[in-house]
Amino acid sequence: MRAIRLDETGPPENLKLVEIDEPALTEDGVLIRTAFAGTIYADAEARRGTYYKQTKLPWFPGREVTGAVEKVGSAVTQYAPGDRVSALVFGAGCYADKVLARTASHEAQGGARMPPSDIIRLPDATDAAASLVYLINYRLAHLLVHGWARVQPEARIVVHGASGGMGSMILELANELGCEAIALVRTSDEAEFCRQLGAAHCIDTTQTDYVEAVNELTDGAGVSFSFNGVGGDTINRDPRILAAFGEIHLYGYVAGKIPFDPFANDGSIALKTFNADDFFRTPMFAAANDAMLARFERGNLLPPGRIMPLAQAAEAHRAMEAGEIRGKLLLEP
Ligand SMILES: NC(=O)c1ccc[n+]([C@@H]2O[C@H](COP(=O)([O-])OP(=O)(O)OC[C@H]3O[C@@H](n4cnc5c(N)ncnc54)[C@H](OP(=O)(O)O)[C@@H]3O)[C@@H](O)[C@H]2O)c1
Repeated sequence: MRAIRLDETGPPENLKLVEIDEPALTEDGVLIRTAFAGTIYADAEARRGTYYKQTKLPWFPGREVTGAVEKVGSAVTQYAPGDRVSALVFGAGCYADKVLARTASHEAQGGARMPPSDIIRLPDATDAAASLVYLINYRLAHLLVHGWARVQPEARIVVHGASGGMGSMILELANELGCEAIALVRTSDEAEFCRQLGAAHCIDTTQTDYVEAVNELTDGAGVSFSFNGVGGDTINRDPRILAAFGEIHLYGYVAGKIPFDPFANDGSIALKTFNADDFFRTPMFAAANDAMLARFERGNLLPPGRIMPLAQAAEAHRAMEAGEIRGKLLLEP
């Protein structure tokens, strides 16, 4: 089968299309024929070697897959050939024609202990490609908005990188809560996309200073929450857009890592960091999962922003890092 492999961390072109054997079926395994593989920004960070965990080489990227079950191992009773599933595979390897998802914890290449894959049976009416828009990002956004921030209905919030995979899901959830969401974007297309997702205001940060604009929009009152996956200098500027007791939820650093200076402001605010791994076995994750399944049932799912051929994984990473994708980017074998 075909798979994407990284032999050396670095630029997108280090992602090579290779022929390898299909994964050997294990007792606890569910072999999925890939319809689409999802990309997340962390894949690009791991490819560059800047992810918070070391990239073990050779690395087969991709943690999200959707497709049909082809075979199951002898110990698997919950899934059968032909089932339509989407799965989060912690050991990666989803940029491939076939993916082995495991239903039990196991040892990965290099000796690391891996939790079981998170396999979701798709409702008949759920579009496979759209399910990947939600599989990671909706649940993580739910953990942030409901689990960690506990945003109250109608709260005023700012969403950085609002048209991205995480940002768009935070906007969907904020809209469900009736929040007044201020979306920070970098193009007029992104602004239009965020308005469709329910953003009350959009600020193009390439044209306008967002700190001034947020203070103007709120008559100096500020917002209760900033959801920030951008980092860079925004981490030291966000305190100036917060109301008293406001919170910055810092979950990423696409604009780089800059130390936070707590003495640069004199207000009463909180900086909360976020690592999804800490939430997986908590009731907050169960709630996020239920919310995603209910979202699937409601339908009218946001489609992926772009679908590219598996063989163009390198080009896909380039486009993702150049900010050319609105929402979710998928690879199709
Ligand atoms: N801590 C965790 O557990 C966790 C979980 C999920 C995600 N994350 C992290 O969160 C971050 C965002 O993830 P994602 O999946 O939403 O990524 P994404 O889909 O690529 O979206 C990134 C967003 O950030 C914007 N952006 C990129 N560079 C920027 C810059 N220099 N200044 C301002 N905006 C910029 C992009 O806008 P343009 O389109 O205009 O470039 C895009 O809207 C990543 O760092 C990811 O690793 C962490």
